[in-house]
Amino acid sequence: MNVLAIESSCDETACAVVRAEGGRVRVLSDVVRGQADHARFGGVVPEIASRAHTEQLVATVTAALREADVARPDAVAATAGPGLIGAVLVGLSFGKAAALGWGVPFVGVNHLEGHLLSALLDDPAPAFPFLCLVVSGGHTALYEARALGDYRVLCETTDDAAGEAFDKVARMLGLGYPGGPRVEALASTGNPRAVALPLPRPSASPHDLSFSGLKTAVRSWLERHPETSREDVAASFQDTVARYLLDRIQWGATTTGIRRVAIGGGAAANGRLREALSGSGLEVFLPAKARCTDNAAMIGNVAALHLAAGHTPWPLDSTARARWEVGT
Ligand code: KG4
Ligand code: ZN
Repeated sequence: MNVLAIESSCDETACAVVRAEGGRVRVLSDVVRGQADHARFGGVVPEIASRAHTEQLVATVTAALREADVARPDAVAATAGPGLIGAVLVGLSFGKAAALGWGVPFVGVNHLEGHLLSALLDDPAPAFPFLCLVVSGGHTALYEARALGDYRVLCETTDDAAGEAFDKVARMLGLGYPGGPRVEALASTGNPRAVALPLPRPSASPHDLSFSGLKTAVRSWLERHPETSREDVAASFQDTVARYLLDRIQWGATTTGIRRVAIGGGAAANGRLREALSGSGLEVFLPAKARCTDNAAMIGNVAALHLAAGHTPWPLDSTARARWEVGT
């Protein structure tokens, strides 16, 4: 079964073809087109994103089908949320129309479930149950993935997402957008012990994560010590985020007794975080960096797994959701 998948929830226009066979999902093509127009505004402008998706989508779909050597897929999937609603609607509407035209089933996919299960595209893949830390630009949560479609939030941010914290610190350091990769590049020549930043502590509940205190600590350090090298600030911030997330993962592993851990979402591409996890003693599954940042292969993966499990496709009149808890 070949699935054509579309992802348009933020500023990446992405399309992939995946094939489900023998209980596994294989990626036949995986095309991602960025949108340079946002950089001069210092962040993603929703209206620009929607328009760029409209302009780029046909070429992206055509390229993915050609690369996979598939003329007519057996199903079409598209991200149905959460995300920028106008941007989601472009890919979702296109996907539904394509499914209708080809007369094949359509599946609306939760973007977060895409990140959550992206490690399943690798070999070896984690078996259920496993823990998954999803760290993207809009969401940060540690999940217990018990089975396909059965996910429990172990802890979740109550303020900024991890990727958002990278973007905000990047702005403080004058690095522009997108922030995460730029902070990481700057940090590569910095000393992670140079700036003493407080490790965020769970406030009232171990189920709460928080990044806003850390972000504020960076800001006040820069105000009090403007002479500190930006490399050292970037390295210290990145190291604190990695140690904090590792600490929460260790807590999740102890609480659940589950030692298989995967990660997903844009900030999961961060080398320091990946290194911290690799040295954790847990059984770690790290998807390739291109499968952590937004892509359509992860959307096709979710759709193919659900279709193969006999779950019902989406009715064509179901709509996009700006907010959408995973597994609901
Ligand atoms: O998953 P994603 O591509 O889009 C969303 O679903 O939000 O995540 C984007 C986020 C941005 O905040 C970006 O700064 C962050 O992921 N990011 C990184 C890195 N690459 C992307 N954060 C830290 N280190 C990176 N290498
Ligand atoms: Zn994402």
